[in-house]
Amino acid sequence: MKIAQFLPWIGKDEYDATASCFEKNWITEGPKAKEFEEKLLELTGARFGIFAPNGTLALYLGLRALGIGPGDEVIVPDFTFIGSATSVEMTGARPVFVDVNRRNFQIDLTNADAIVTEKTKAIMPVHIYGTIADMGAVTAFAARHGLKVIEDAAQALGVRRSGVHAGCFGDVGTFSFFADKTITTGEGGMVVTNDESIYERLRYLRNQGRINRGTFVHPEIGYNFRMTDMQCAVGLRQLEKLPEIIERKNRILDNYKSQLGDMPGIKFFEPDEGADLIPFRVCILTDQAEALSECMKENEIETRTFFYPLHRQPCFEYLKDEGAEHSMDDSSFPNSIYGYEHGICLPTYPTLSDEEINYVCDVIKEYKDGS
Ligand SMILES: Cc1ncc(COP(=O)(O)O)c(C=O)c1O
Repeated sequence: MKIAQFLPWIGKDEYDATASCFEKNWITEGPKAKEFEEKLLELTGARFGIFAPNGTLALYLGLRALGIGPGDEVIVPDFTFIGSATSVEMTGARPVFVDVNRRNFQIDLTNADAIVTEKTKAIMPVHIYGTIADMGAVTAFAARHGLKVIEDAAQALGVRRSGVHAGCFGDVGTFSFFADKTITTGEGGMVVTNDESIYERLRYLRNQGRINRGTFVHPEIGYNFRMTDMQCAVGLRQLEKLPEIIERKNRILDNYKSQLGDMPGIKFFEPDEGADLIPFRVCILTDQAEALSECMKENEIETRTFFYPLHRQPCFEYLKDEGAEHSMDDSSFPNSIYGYEHGICLPTYPTLSDEEINYVCDVIKEYKDGS
């Protein structure tokens, strides 16, 4: 049996949903985009939203709309997908890394006051692996230091904490609709905000420096960050499936937990009290991560490691020379390193069958029995 790490749940429904774009001869952002935007605002509870071509560019737009640029610093967790940090670099600002907690790998600000300088302008909590950061702690930290908050909620569509949707606690929040995200449009992203003046800036930035298309007078500098109506038609169909996607993903996690949860040396991580978990990945922690992953590979099960710590990324070597006041040493990021060395993402996607989960669990049990 061969099992992928992830497969998007798309098919004839999504294919059929795009037909009206061709029938109406409207393929760039149009009626489907409007409807998709409205439905996403309804889901998240945000007042305003704009689309972006992907989650990385959504972050870039959000940062630019907050006025982040060259000379600024933005606090980013050391443990996240590279796009969180490269979006900061794209604005000309510097990402400054902070460790995460070991419970569920969300940003940990316990010792972060010392990394704030006069250049620090914003903080970017990343809601990782389908749960949500401690936004009470983040917003208190931001208020204490006068920082803007941009939430990377690429992995957290549908996820709430105390009833508030991820992406809606800070000044802006962003989502990704990449193929492995909770819902997908192939590529795609969104920025949400409750602040009308930020929304205005986002609109100029994404639409060639003007509010509406069809004029060639451009009051500001802006660019093209549109999606297509075909993508939005797919997104609308995916949104209809969202309750079932969530239910299936939770059922898959429960199944894994019922078979592996009591096994010595295997730990699942838990959301905080009051925080949802829509398992973006099924994450386990084990002392034998490398050898177990190798064994699973030999049995044609595709696993993923946890993220490689950002402070170790070759592409961020240059940061070591640029700001001696910010530590890039392993000693500052013990939990991020722990996650990388101990974490395994097990296959999870809505169409993963019980039989396939049983196979994955059997391979893990056999490995554990023999080790
Ligand atoms: C946490 C996080 N941030 C940002 C991104 C970037 O999104 P995209 O791939 O749509 O650019 C991703 C996507 O994988 C992500 O997981």
